Amino acid sequence: MNVHTYEKLWLIAAMVLIVGFIATITYGSVGLGIAMVGDQQETVEPTELADDERFGEPRVEQIGDDEYEVYVVAQTFSFQPDPIEVPENSQVTFHVTARDVIHSFSLAGTNVNTMVIPGEVAEMTVEFDDPEVYGVVCNEYCGPDHHNMEGQVHVVP
Ligand code: CUA
Repeated sequence: MNVHTYEKLWLIAAMVLIVGFIATITYGSVGLGIAMVGDQQETVEPTELADDERFGEPRVEQIGDDEYEVYVVAQTFSFQPDPIEVPENSQVTFHVTARDVIHSFSLAGTNVNTMVIPGEVAEMTVEFDDPEVYGVVCNEYCGPDHHNMEGQVHVVP
């Protein structure tokens, strides 16, 4: 093989990788039985979470037949509530804020992933079809125990 052939092979390999990355991002949750259907942002006073009607008591709230709202507080180095329990075949809107520093709220193995910033409320709606346990992980470095910051979402029958 001459140099040109190698160059061509590398170009093709790079192209395949790029297409693969895009496909992974676009179709990340297909086949996992869950889908992210939207996200938006609100605000909150991070020093007054205890008195906030949404975050004073982190919780799961049923708002319709198959509809749930979950209020989540991320802090060094845990998520509240934990575990978050929702039923299968439900549409769940997560409202997530941070008490102290920047964290993330990410469901391992899915494309459900949001940065969680003190003062801001990350909102996203997810449809859960099948019973499953998802790990909640933090993808933003937030301190010495960042790698141990984890929670769980239980999708129950
Ligand atoms: Cu919280 Cu990393």
